[in-house]
Amino acid sequence: MKIMLIGFGVVGQGVAGLLGARPQLDIEIVGVATGTRGSLYLVDGLSPHQLLTAIQSGHLDHYPDAPGLRRNLDPLQLIRDSKADVMVECSPSNFQTGQPAFDYCRAAFASGKHVVLANKGPVALRYANLMGFAGDQYQVRYEATVMAGTPCFALGEKYFVRENGCPISDIRGILNGTTNYILTQMGDGMNYAEALAQAQQLGYAETDPTADVEGWDAAGKAMILSNVFFGNQLRRNEMSVQGITGITQADIASAHAAGERWKLIVQVTPAGASVQPMRLPISDPLAGVSGATNAITFKTPLLGDVTLIGAGAGRAETAFGVLADLLDIQRTLGR
Ligand SMILES: NC(=O)c1ccc[n+]([C@@H]2O[C@H](COP(=O)([O-])OP(=O)(O)OC[C@H]3O[C@@H](n4cnc5c(N)ncnc54)[C@H](OP(=O)(O)O)[C@@H]3O)[C@@H](O)[C@H]2O)c1
Repeated sequence: MKIMLIGFGVVGQGVAGLLGARPQLDIEIVGVATGTRGSLYLVDGLSPHQLLTAIQSGHLDHYPDAPGLRRNLDPLQLIRDSKADVMVECSPSNFQTGQPAFDYCRAAFASGKHVVLANKGPVALRYANLMGFAGDQYQVRYEATVMAGTPCFALGEKYFVRENGCPISDIRGILNGTTNYILTQMGDGMNYAEALAQAQQLGYAETDPTADVEGWDAAGKAMILSNVFFGNQLRRNEMSVQGITGITQADIASAHAAGERWKLIVQVTPAGASVQPMRLPISDPLAGVSGATNAITFKTPLLGDVTLIGAGAGRAETAFGVLADLLDIQRTLGR
């Protein structure tokens, strides 16, 4: 199976790293595009190792010459011209418009490619459109968009809903690792500013942490879950979204004294979604999820609550989600 990577940052490089380490998977990278660091196309396959060496030295132009190698096509041209079976979209998530990733996906379908997204924008904002353009002919996968490689769609969408007819009536989750890390550190006695600074030092929080701490990253994931599980396209202004900036150490201490924990909870039902800090009893599986870990609880009529706990970000973790999608598509193509 031939793939192309749109975006070659943390996630794209993680995918190249995984494929380089597993040549037996028979997945070949034929195209790579970045925003400012060039692009490459070689129908016979690019070397994952040489791609990583080139990008680590600053630009894909450092990739060695090879017969038939094309350089610096713009991403849309690369998508249209390349003979790849799958486009992997791992450029930055845009929660205002979903662009340019949405146009990249359309170009991929129009030129005969399936699509795997780590990019959350199109799945959060234009899911029905995306599926409409894919039609029956092309597959769309997005495991990495929520909980990175922790298989929340493989469990919830594929296993419960699609394969076993077990509906999901309600979803609750801790879907932002940065805020969960901060709340956990505050539970151990740090104040908010110290906990945020530590999250930034460890690379969990961005220099501008607004999207995380104000709840907007979690809200984007709520929109994705609402689309996938309930077919309900929410707008950001239709959700109640509150972050963790108003939580004080006194709030944390009074919850601890009552045997409870503060968590930033995403709640999604067929009627809508919200993001808000909540005090959970320690008996709730979500209350015990600490650090940058994520978790999701599916409410089902037959099994009751089922909770999945695992990584929500990271290079190898997110690349694993992309790889699982690629292998899933590869299996269906082989049929
Ligand atoms: N990192 C995670 O743990 C994680 C987890 C789940 C989902 N995701 C999602 O996965 C995607 C990639 O994340 P990341 O951490 O790999 O980001 P990143 O390190 O910032 O890399 C983004 C890549 O996209 C390229 N790019 C920027 N604008 C582009 C454009 N208009 N067209 C094509 N390529 C463009 C960048 O190129 P330049 O460097 O040249 O600008 C870079 O190669 C994001 O949508 C993110 O939300 C990430």
